Amino acid sequence: MRVVLLGAPGAGKGTQCKRIVGRYGVIHLSSGDILRRHRAEGSELGKKAQAYMDSGALVPDDLVVEVMAEEIKKAPEAGFVLDGFPRTVNQAIELDETLESIDRKIDIVVNLQVDEQNVLARMTGRRSCPKCGAVYHVENMRPKVEGKCDHDGAELVQRPDDSAEVVANRLRTYHLQTKPVVDYYREKSTVFDVDANKEADETSGLILDRLDALVKA
Ligand code: AP5
Repeated sequence: MRVVLLGAPGAGKGTQCKRIVGRYGVIHLSSGDILRRHRAEGSELGKKAQAYMDSGALVPDDLVVEVMAEEIKKAPEAGFVLDGFPRTVNQAIELDETLESIDRKIDIVVNLQVDEQNVLARMTGRRSCPKCGAVYHVENMRPKVEGKCDHDGAELVQRPDDSAEVVANRLRTYHLQTKPVVDYYREKSTVFDVDANKEADETSGLILDRLDALVKA
C-alpha cells in the first residue's frame, strides 16, 4: 500500500503515520525526519537545509526530491506512507515520475484537515524524543514520566521550529505552497478528507477504517 498523508504543520501527520505503519507493515517516510537526520549527521544536505527549516521556509525542491526518490526506490513491497512530501506541486510531479520509473502508483491520499488554533497549540506543546523520534504533547499526549521518552527514557526536547514565530511562517508557507498539492491530487487520485480536530484515536479510527477497506478491495 502506498499512501500520501497531507496536512498543515501540526495536523498530526507523524502521529497518524506511526499508527498506519504499526497496522500494515509499511515504512514511514517523513521528509522532515529525514532532513533532521541529515542535520544531526552534519551532511552537506543537512547543512544546506538548516536555514530554511529554522525559518519555516521550504527546503528547495531539488534537494528534497533527490533524497526522497532514493528512499522511495528502496521501499519494501509492502509499501510506504509519505509524511511531509510532496509539499509543492513540483514535488508531486517529480514523485509521479519516480513512481512511474519503478512501475508503482499512489493508492490513496489522506488529507488531514485541522483548524489553525489547534495547530498552534499542538506545535508549541509538542515534545519529541531525539533518539527514537516518538512524539508527545505536554497536555494531549503526555509521556508516562514527565520529560522522558516512554520507549528509551531519553530526555524529550522541543523542536527549534516549534516557536510561535516560526510556526506562523510555516503556516504561511503551507497556505502558499502546499495547499495547491491537495488540488493537484483531487484532479487525479482518490483524496480522503479527515477531520483531524478530533482526538488522535478517533482520527486514526477513521483513517484505518478507510485503509482497511482499500486493502480488502
Ligand atoms: P516537518 O517535520 O514535515 O513538519 P510539518 O509538516 O510542519 O509537520 P509537523 O512534523 O510539525 O507536524 P505533524 O503534522 O507531523 O504533527 P505531529 O503528529 O507531530 O517539516 C519541518 C521542516 O522541514 C519544514 O518546515 C521544511 O523546512 C522542511 N521540509 C520537510 N519536508 C519538506 C519538503 N517536502 N519540501 C521542502 N521542505 C521540507 O503532531 C503535532 C503535535 O500535536 C504533537 O505534540 C502530537 O502529540 C499532538 N497531536 C497529534 N494529533 C493530535 C490530536 N488529534 N489531538 C491532540 N493533539 C495531537
